[in-house]
Amino acid sequence: MNLLELQHVSKHFAHVEVLRDVCLRFEPGTVSAIVGDNGAGKSTLLKILAGIHAPAEGTITFNDSAITNLSADARRARGIEMVYQDLALAAQQDVVTNLFMGREQTSIFGLLKRRSMRRLAQAKMEELGINLPSLQQPVGQLSGGQQQAVAIARALLFSPQVLLLDEPTAALAVREVERVLDLIRQQRAAKRIVILVSHRLNDVLAVSDRIIVLKHGRVAADDPAQSVSLSQVVEKIVS
Ligand SMILES: Nc1ncnc2c1ncn2[C@@H]1O[C@H](COP(=O)(O)OP(=O)(O)OP(=O)(O)O)[C@@H](O)[C@H]1O
Ligand SMILES: [Mg+2]
Repeated sequence: MNLLELQHVSKHFAHVEVLRDVCLRFEPGTVSAIVGDNGAGKSTLLKILAGIHAPAEGTITFNDSAITNLSADARRARGIEMVYQDLALAAQQDVVTNLFMGREQTSIFGLLKRRSMRRLAQAKMEELGINLPSLQQPVGQLSGGQQQAVAIARALLFSPQVLLLDEPTAALAVREVERVLDLIRQQRAAKRIVILVSHRLNDVLAVSDRIIVLKHGRVAADDPAQSVSLSQVVEKIVS
């Protein structure tokens, strides 16, 4: 089974401890939510899984092999994709360029296969039900919600095994939120691992199998979603 596991992961920035002895295990076909206050360490935890930050201590394993020392690109190649809280898009570049960033298709002569990438991008956007005025437009000119849709499409372009979502619906309107929740359910049905960080607790409860509460960098609670109510989750976060 393609398990993703963190063992005794700690992280500090200078002298600020951000994650302390985090041990978690994620199984395919499950949606795990990570919730907690601002600054609890949620984004840092996802970035450690994505290979953006290295843990100070601890190990990360995926599919029985240690990936702790693999770069973000190497993890993407193994099917671990992340949607960043700040989206991490290149504002000056068009949608297609952003979707393929770091994984451009090139011919044997090293030339970019623009037409083929555009076709693939178009097909993916249609599949995901994302309507943009043009795929040739610089991403910086799109609305906040449209940019969020591009970031999500980029993560899904190569059918990832692990999808790390950091506030993927923060900028979205009601209908778009529903679409993202459906996409998350589809990922679960396809036996992928989904880890969702969100402050929108209603969405979290609607879509997750498991709710992990992070507090000051520690796992403070880890419950099956059906066993906790909204008010109980809030209580666990603030208590
Ligand atoms: N690159 C960095 N350098 C220094 N400190 C950082 C860095 N990234 C995060 N931190 C600190 O780590 C702590 C946890 O930040 P993190 O972004 O993981 O929180 P979060 O739970 O995602 O919060 P939010 O809900 O506001 O997004 C914060 O105190 C933050 O200031
Ligand atoms: Mg964050």
